Amino acid sequence: MSYLIEFIKNRSVGAVSSSSKSLGRFMFGKLNYSDAKVIVELGGGRGVFTHEILKLMSSECKLLVFEVNEVFCNQLKSEIQDERVTIINDSAEHIGAYLQQHQFEKADHIISSLPLSMFSLELKESILQNATCFLSDVGQFLQFQYAPFDYKRLKSHFGSVKMNFSIRNFPPAFVYRCML
Ligand SMILES: C[S@@+](CC[C@H](N)C(=O)[O-])C[C@H]1O[C@@H](n2cnc3c(N)ncnc32)[C@H](O)[C@@H]1O
Repeated sequence: MSYLIEFIKNRSVGAVSSSSKSLGRFMFGKLNYSDAKVIVELGGGRGVFTHEILKLMSSECKLLVFEVNEVFCNQLKSEIQDERVTIINDSAEHIGAYLQQHQFEKADHIISSLPLSMFSLELKESILQNATCFLSDVGQFLQFQYAPFDYKRLKSHFGSVKMNFSIRNFPPAFVYRCML
């Protein structure tokens, strides 16, 4: 219910319910976690992906979770007791400042469930520019969407963009795997 309520209040929530764990595993289950020092999640929501990422990460790796919605942020902070996680109540384009604050130059991977199609062109561009700027040269930027409308935009920022489709979610989703 909390998704529906927050979605009615603000469309930038981008969904009326949480994504499935299966979509998360399809998206980021096969990343290289063994060498990762810091992973960034954009749009934590109610934390379905956050919990899955934490299960896959090593004990030394840090997870920075960006979530603009204060209600979700407070829920995440109270429900996730894991010293590897920092929940950040700020917008995704400020990724660089928080990486620096935590003594990291670049993110090893960026996992995004941001509702890009709901964003202004300016915000979308700013988030993607910052994501490319602060992603490791060998890292992946993963993004899911309900429609494949941002493929060309992602192509304009990343050297390689692979698109897959997962029916293990309602609604089914397109998953982009992007590399510099
Ligand atoms: C579609 S929901 C996905 C949430 C969750 N990861 C999931 O898959 O169930 C998108 C989330 O992105 C958050 N969000 C929207 N704009 C954002 C921004 N500029 N920066 C960070 N988070 C944002 C929304 O508040 C919402 O919780």
